[in-house]
Amino acid sequence: MSASEPVTVEVRLARAPYCVRVGGGILAACGGMIRALHAGNRVAVVTDANVAAIHLPVVMESLAAAGFEAVAITVEAGETSKRLECAGQVCDAMIAAGLDRSALLVALGGGVVGDLAGFVAAIYYRGIPCVQIPTTVVAQVDSSVGGKTGVNAPGGKNLIGAFHQPSLVIIDPLTLGTLPARDYNEGFAEIIKHAVIRDAEMLAVLDPGERAGLAGLIARNVRIKAAIVAADERETGGERALLNFGHTIGHAIEQAAGYGRFRHGEAVSIGLRGALLLSVHRAGLAQADCDRVVRVLEAFQLPVRVPEDLATADILRAMGRDKKFVGGKVRFVLTARLGSAFLASDVTTEEIEAVVGELRG
Ligand SMILES: NC(=O)c1ccc[n+]([C@@H]2O[C@H](COP(=O)([O-])OP(=O)(O)OC[C@H]3O[C@@H](n4cnc5c(N)ncnc54)[C@H](O)[C@@H]3O)[C@@H](O)[C@H]2O)c1
Ligand SMILES: [Zn+2]
Repeated sequence: MSASEPVTVEVRLARAPYCVRVGGGILAACGGMIRALHAGNRVAVVTDANVAAIHLPVVMESLAAAGFEAVAITVEAGETSKRLECAGQVCDAMIAAGLDRSALLVALGGGVVGDLAGFVAAIYYRGIPCVQIPTTVVAQVDSSVGGKTGVNAPGGKNLIGAFHQPSLVIIDPLTLGTLPARDYNEGFAEIIKHAVIRDAEMLAVLDPGERAGLAGLIARNVRIKAAIVAADERETGGERALLNFGHTIGHAIEQAAGYGRFRHGEAVSIGLRGALLLSVHRAGLAQADCDRVVRVLEAFQLPVRVPEDLATADILRAMGRDKKFVGGKVRFVLTARLGSAFLASDVTTEEIEAVVGELRG
């Protein structure tokens, strides 16, 4: 993919709207973009060790050229950095660097860095502005937009956090060129989810071998996420809950398999197939449409079956649906027609159990 004119997607929030800029090669121009919205001079760039080795120098250079005095704070790569202690360490490093309320934080990396650093920005001096520069597919199409930030607790994922919308999101799809294949493909589970709930025509352009149109594809997904977030910023209206399509079963598989066996996007891929099958049974979705989406998932090397050694009981338990919930109902996102979704509130534990069974075949 070559450099292209950046496109701008607005996240139209009532209180603090912001822009997402998407363009191949714009990483090298991040300093100027941040200068346009921030008068102060001090910046903390939070990143992880992998991203620091590849993309940090360009960012530091661009910030310096725009007159910023930037300090880089690098955490270990991986989900284990999404911890309260790690957030504390980043705060301590910022205090040691003499950063105060006039500072700005740049989150450079995948969803782990975005969630962790976004959370630090939410609490540092009771909140400083944050610019997200996502470098994974997941972070570019999902986590960098919407303002959900936080860390994990021993008792569960994302249990400690805050809503803190970024002031700007800078997306350079060229950064994805250094992403390992498994990380790259994983992100397409969320893209395929977006297609199912909002943009069926996008399914036709999803091709694992095609990276030329990546900037357009990322922008298309950012528009979907931005519109949903603008309609329901804090997930109180039901709209944002539609983004959980495929995630009820997906999260349960991720957890039941033991974190680390399936990537989030891989577990969601199986969950997407589950939600599609349930939609065929319950919502009149055409079997051919279900099959079509499954073929796209498979094209991105994503799993669509529950492995034999993973017991249905364990998956239901991870969902909070063990035997004591027999007869219980659960909120579940379904689709009657590709490109749309709705929240059903009367899906039963038994129906989910049956679909998990189907997911073995
Ligand atoms: N806030 C939200 O709305 C939201 C939404 C979805 C996911 N998330 C969170 O996002 C996290 C997952 O994010 P992720 O999938 O981006 O994982 P990640 O941040 O761990 O990144 C995956 C791996 O890729 C490496 N990496 C990142 N960019 C790279 C690049 N350009 N080149 C080479 N290597 C690179 C990272 O160092 C890491 O090893 C989870 O913690 C999840 O909870 C949050
Ligand atoms: Zn997800």
